[in-house]
Amino acid sequence: MRFDLPVSRLPTAWRNVLPDLAPPLEPPLHPRTREPIGPDDLAPLFPMGLILQEVSADPWVDIPGAILDILRLWRPTPLVRAERLERALGTPARIYFKDESVSPAGSHKPNTAVPQAFYNKAEGIPRLTTETGAGQWGTALSFACTQFELDCKVYMVRASYQQKPYRKILMETWGSEVVPSPVDDPDHPGSLGLAISDAVRDAATRDDTHYALGSVLNHVLLHQTIIGLEAKEQLVLAGETRPDVVIASCGGGSNLGGIALPFLEDTDIRLVAVEPSSCPTLTEGQFDYDFGDTAGMTPLMAMYTLGHDFVPPAIHAGGLRYHGDAPIISALVKSGRMEAIAYPQGKTFEAAVQFANTEGKVPAPETGHAIRAVIDEALAAKELGEERVILFNYSGHGFLDLSAYDDYLNGRLDA
Ligand SMILES: Cc1ncc(COP(=O)(O)O)c(C=O)c1O
Repeated sequence: MRFDLPVSRLPTAWRNVLPDLAPPLEPPLHPRTREPIGPDDLAPLFPMGLILQEVSADPWVDIPGAILDILRLWRPTPLVRAERLERALGTPARIYFKDESVSPAGSHKPNTAVPQAFYNKAEGIPRLTTETGAGQWGTALSFACTQFELDCKVYMVRASYQQKPYRKILMETWGSEVVPSPVDDPDHPGSLGLAISDAVRDAATRDDTHYALGSVLNHVLLHQTIIGLEAKEQLVLAGETRPDVVIASCGGGSNLGGIALPFLEDTDIRLVAVEPSSCPTLTEGQFDYDFGDTAGMTPLMAMYTLGHDFVPPAIHAGGLRYHGDAPIISALVKSGRMEAIAYPQGKTFEAAVQFANTEGKVPAPETGHAIRAVIDEALAAKELGEERVILFNYSGHGFLDLSAYDDYLNGRLDA
């Protein structure tokens, strides 16, 4: 059963939780002086429109019309009740998912790529650089840049560049230049932290270029709140007063923040982050100041981290292979408002395949992490005989990750 909002009900403002956080977030620090940074320190990399959102104290931020015009190409996205999965599990829980896979790039990432391209264009910046792991963020930014006629150069983690040619082709179709990273070591398989260093170095050394990040930062989570704002209205259409638990996979924290932050003030609603046990940032990392990249060029952020030189194993959920996490998500986990759970990848593919065989949709490996937790939550509700309402974010489809399914189905997957 599917619950759609009319296009006329597309949210026109993003929800900013920064003023609600107690204690407030710790400020980012300059990478060399280790003093708190101000807007001017970020100006070589980001447009002022985004820098101001990064520190905004307004609970609502209006979405400019030019951004809404593009978001309307696929938003509002459907909210679907996963009744076939419920029946297969025999659970009294009601499971709803927000289908972010319907965007042009196939994931939630364009929700922030479009505003990021817009604010750069508005300030006269003609070129953006970014990094991408498995390619979801790179494709989203490439799509957004082509909408605003910006040049885009994507530094793609070399292992993915070699193993996953289709995301690269998609980025090139949308006009981007794609190169393998690290650029200075052709034998290195690469990592997200190294690719961020490459993209930041490129942007910092050219006046005509800014850098765009697909997760972690406050403004990225702000843009993604459109997911939870829509879901809130759609749950009412479905006859629910509120969810009992909101679940999403967590790499840098943007799809999780997007669906969960609009529910933050109702403290009876549980919020759950799901990560890989091979990159267990929230469940086993330290809460500390750390760099966002490997080379130590970005500001230091207060977050859960495995160390900026941590190189996670090459699991298929490339978007979850990040050593750190969003400061907002980290603060919520630290304060106990949000829970975190980790799964080995075999268990997540088992869940993803069960979802594909009930609901019909083949999820991205990242999304499979959320589905694993949803299934376990629904089975726990069955055990207790509880009518739990579970909401989760279907962050992307897996059509360009089929080699991962091939590995799983043929017993070649590392646990
Ligand atoms: C489909 C999908 N889900 C989840 C993620 C994790 O990122 P985030 O934690 O920023 O949502 C990614 C990142 O690339 C992704 O592509």
